[in-house]
Amino acid sequence: MFNFDPRTYTKQYASEGFVHIPSGVTEGFYAKMAKQVSEYLAKSLMKEFAIGDKQQAKYEFPEGGDYVNELVQSVATICGVDPKSLVLSERHIKAYDSDAKPNPLAHKDRFASEVSLGISVHVPAGSTLVMYPYDENEINPFNSSTQLRLSFAGDRQPEPALSAARVVEINDKPGDVVMFRGHSIWHLRRNPANTTMLYLKLNTFNCDPLGEDPRTGPIRAFTAQVIAGDDDQLQAHVPLVGRRVDYVHRLYNRDWREVIGVVLWGEQHFTIDDHELKLLQAIDGRRTVAEVIQAANGSAPRGEALKMIRRLSARGVVDLVEAQPSRSSIRAAEMAAVPGR
Ligand SMILES: [Fe+2]
Repeated sequence: MFNFDPRTYTKQYASEGFVHIPSGVTEGFYAKMAKQVSEYLAKSLMKEFAIGDKQQAKYEFPEGGDYVNELVQSVATICGVDPKSLVLSERHIKAYDSDAKPNPLAHKDRFASEVSLGISVHVPAGSTLVMYPYDENEINPFNSSTQLRLSFAGDRQPEPALSAARVVEINDKPGDVVMFRGHSIWHLRRNPANTTMLYLKLNTFNCDPLGEDPRTGPIRAFTAQVIAGDDDQLQAHVPLVGRRVDYVHRLYNRDWREVIGVVLWGEQHFTIDDHELKLLQAIDGRRTVAEVIQAANGSAPRGEALKMIRRLSARGVVDLVEAQPSRSSIRAAEMAAVPGR
């Protein structure tokens, strides 16, 4: 898929928040991808994703290669994170219409797009990626870029600050790879008409709202298996905030009645109680179910807390994964392996 050494870009990504890798995909992958893109655009446009003047279709990796693994390994190296922590939250073909606005407003990608990786497929002359990597870098807390824009009052729009900010304009060519902090860097495609991109989005926090990571189904199946097992087995696993969780909220109606709820992507409010909220807040990606229950400092007895974990897991609010050896035990194993110790 890629024909570069990802280590070359680690330093730049850490300091600048973006990298541009000219001809970053192999000719073989480019040829396959360009063919797929033409076919997708002809057949399977995702109407529900049509946003303004660009159309999107979900991308399927070609048969016969471990592309997701290669993508995850390369991105992990560039970002300096553990490949096991990376979730693929989007794989979309984006095709801009022939009458797309030449100077659209900047946007930030959805919260799940911690890393946005674009592969340029067709780029007409004058079509460029404009970004503001050094200013106004708060993370978009919403799981859509439209929601962020709509959340601003008239006098809180980012444009005044962006007009004074340092701009980077990337003149990308077909086969180039651009990777950047999508959910925190304002960006836009200038003169986008007839541009086609493949966008792959990833994050390190188990977030896959649209269910586009091929590994999300198996994780749900594994979770179902764990909650069907006995309490000891359940307690030894590590709970994560579920991949499809969009947000958790505490809602006050206008009579100040309070209700706590979880909203899975595209779904309605699902009520949880105070103790379930405490359990969710105690999840840190390392603690086991037993440790989470202990940290939530039970107002509910252990048996009740386990029922809650089962209920939240069955609903997709929690995913369960196997416990990884802790850092200290990895360190201890490394020390033990050093000759002479
Ligand atoms: Fe974007």
